Amino acid sequence: MLSVSVVFTVSAGDFTLPLIQNVNAYETCSLNGDWNYIVDVQEEGYYDYRMKPTAWGFFRNAKPQKPEDLIEYDFDKSPTMKIPSDWNTQDERLFFYEGTVWFKKSFLAVPMKECRTLLYFGAVNYDCHVWVNGKKAGHHVGGFTAFNFDISDLLIDGENTVIVKVDNKRHAEDVPTQIFDWWNYGGITRDVKLVKVDSVYLEDYDLHLKKAANKSKVREIAFTARINTKESGHKVEVYFPELKLKQQLITDAQGQVNGTLKVAAKKLQLWSPENPKLYRVDLSVDISTISDEIGFRTIETRGKQILLNGKPIFLKGISIHNEKPNGGGRANSVEDAHTLLSWAQELGCNFVRLAHYPHHEEMVREAERMGILVWSEIPVYWTIAWTNPQTFANAKQQLTDMVARDHNRANVIIWSIANETPHSAERDKFLGGLAKYAHTLDNTRLISMAMEVTGASNYVNRLNDNMNEYVDVVSFNQYIGWYRDVNDAPKMKWEIPYNKPVIISEFGGGARYGFHGSKNQRWTEEFQENLYIENTAMLDKIDGLAGTTPWILKDFRSPRRVLPGVQDYYNRKGLVSDKGEKKKAFFVLKKWYETK
Ligand code: GCU
Repeated sequence: MLSVSVVFTVSAGDFTLPLIQNVNAYETCSLNGDWNYIVDVQEEGYYDYRMKPTAWGFFRNAKPQKPEDLIEYDFDKSPTMKIPSDWNTQDERLFFYEGTVWFKKSFLAVPMKECRTLLYFGAVNYDCHVWVNGKKAGHHVGGFTAFNFDISDLLIDGENTVIVKVDNKRHAEDVPTQIFDWWNYGGITRDVKLVKVDSVYLEDYDLHLKKAANKSKVREIAFTARINTKESGHKVEVYFPELKLKQQLITDAQGQVNGTLKVAAKKLQLWSPENPKLYRVDLSVDISTISDEIGFRTIETRGKQILLNGKPIFLKGISIHNEKPNGGGRANSVEDAHTLLSWAQELGCNFVRLAHYPHHEEMVREAERMGILVWSEIPVYWTIAWTNPQTFANAKQQLTDMVARDHNRANVIIWSIANETPHSAERDKFLGGLAKYAHTLDNTRLISMAMEVTGASNYVNRLNDNMNEYVDVVSFNQYIGWYRDVNDAPKMKWEIPYNKPVIISEFGGGARYGFHGSKNQRWTEEFQENLYIENTAMLDKIDGLAGTTPWILKDFRSPRRVLPGVQDYYNRKGLVSDKGEKKKAFFVLKKWYETK
C-alpha cells in the first residue's frame, strides 16, 4: 500500500472490494474441490437468442417447480472438475477449448452480524461474472490477478450457491491480446475461499526498510496501513516479537496510518538469498488481529550496478511459466512452486523471472522462503491495442492488483510492465503512462520491461528504445544462435547507450530431450548446449550486465508450437523437459553461474 491514492469505484450488483492484503492470515473456508460445470459454447446461459443478456440465465440455477416447467440445464446433473485448475487438462474435450464454461459450487454458511464475508478468487482466466444465490456479486477481467467481493448481504442461512461464468476467448483489446506464446488455460485456476473479516479490518498495509547510508547505526522501517473504512480514531498496532518492536497509531479521516519504527542496525538481519530472514509480525486494528512474515532489504541501482542491501549483486536467473512441473496445466500449489524453484536453485539461481504474468501467490512466497529474488510482470505482451483506453485501464488495473498482492514480499525486486512491444508513439505513450504509474505505486522497487534488440549490422547489436528513460533497469530479449546468427555469438558486439544496469531477460534455443546429434543439428541437446556455451561467453562481454533470465526453465505448452515429434504443442526451449528431465544445456548454465 505504498501509494494511498488508488481510486476504487463499485456499481450496482458489484460487491467488488479492494484486494485484501495477506488473505491467508484470516479465518477462511476453502471452496476448492469439485465444482459442477457446463460448457456453453454459444453463451446460451447468458444471452437470449437476440444476444441480449437474459434474466433467465444459468446464474439462477433454476429447477423445474412444476412438471410442465422448461429448464434446459441442470448443474447438479452436470460433470464436476477439481478447482483450482484449468479446464484444458481436466477434460480432454476442452484441451483446445476457448469460450464460456459455467461453474457451480454449493456451500453451507450462516450469515454473521458482527463480521463480513468476502468471496476471494486467486485468479480466473480471463473474463468472469460471479453470482451468489442468483444475485450478481461482481465481474472481473484479467487471468492472473486476485479479486474479492463482499458477499455478506447475499448469503442465506443454510445452503448457498456460487455460480461463475468464465470466458477465455481472446480479443485484440484484451491484456494479453490475441496472440501469445503460452497455452490459454481457461477456468478457475487458483484458490477460491470465503474469508471471515471483522467489520473493521486492515484492508492493506506495507512494511519496508528505508534506504540508509552505509554503516548507519539505526535502521528505519516504514509502516503504512489502511483500514476498510474511511474513519479516524481506530487503533492500529504493529508488533515484531523477535525484535521487541511495537508501535500504536490512530487512523486519520482516510482510515490510514503512517509510521516509522526504529531498530538498531546490528539487531536487524537483512533478507538476502544467502539469508532469507523473515520476521513474524502481528498487526491489529481494534479487535481484528493477523500475522505475516516480513523480510527487510533495500534494492536500488547505482550506475550499471544493482545493489541489494547496498552491495552489488549479479542476478543469476531463469525465466519460468506458471505451469505445473510435470506435464501441462496451471501451477497453483506450494508444491508446484517448490519443485520449479528447486530446479532453479539447482541451476545456481538467486533470481527468477515469473513470465509473462503474475504467478500464484505461493510461487512468490515460496521463493521468498527459499531466498530467490523475483521479477514479476503483467501480460502487456507483443502488439497490444495501444490507443484503446479500456486496454490501458485494464493493464493499469492488472499492475495495481499485482503490486497490491505482493508489495510486502522482500524477494520481489522488479515490477515489469511489458514484453517485446513494437516501437511506436502510441506504444511509448501507453508504456510511459504505465511506467510512471508503477513508480507512483511503488518507489521502493525497480521498474523494467523486456525490450528487444533494435538494430544489428556487422555483428554490432544496438539497443535504442525510448522506454529507457522510464525504467530503472534496461532489459532486453535476444535470440542469437536461434532466431538469428547461428554460431555467430562469439563475433557479437553490443552498443547499449544507457548508464543503467542491463538484464538479458531472454536468450535460448529449443531441444527435444533425448534427441542427440551434432551441435549444428536443430533440436538436438547438443545444439542447445552449444548455443548456451556461445551465448554465456558473449554475455560476459556486455558492459553493465547485471543479470540474466534465460528462456526458459521448463518446456511449456504453446498453441504456436506445432512441429510433430519435436514440439507437439510444447515450446521446447526449456532446460528441463516437460517431464522434469534435465537437458545438457542445463549444466552449461549451472557451470556459468558458478563463475558469477
Ligand atoms: C519471445 C517471448 C516468449 C516466447 C519466446 C520464444 O521472446 O517473449 O514468450 O516464448 O520468445 O520464442 O520461445
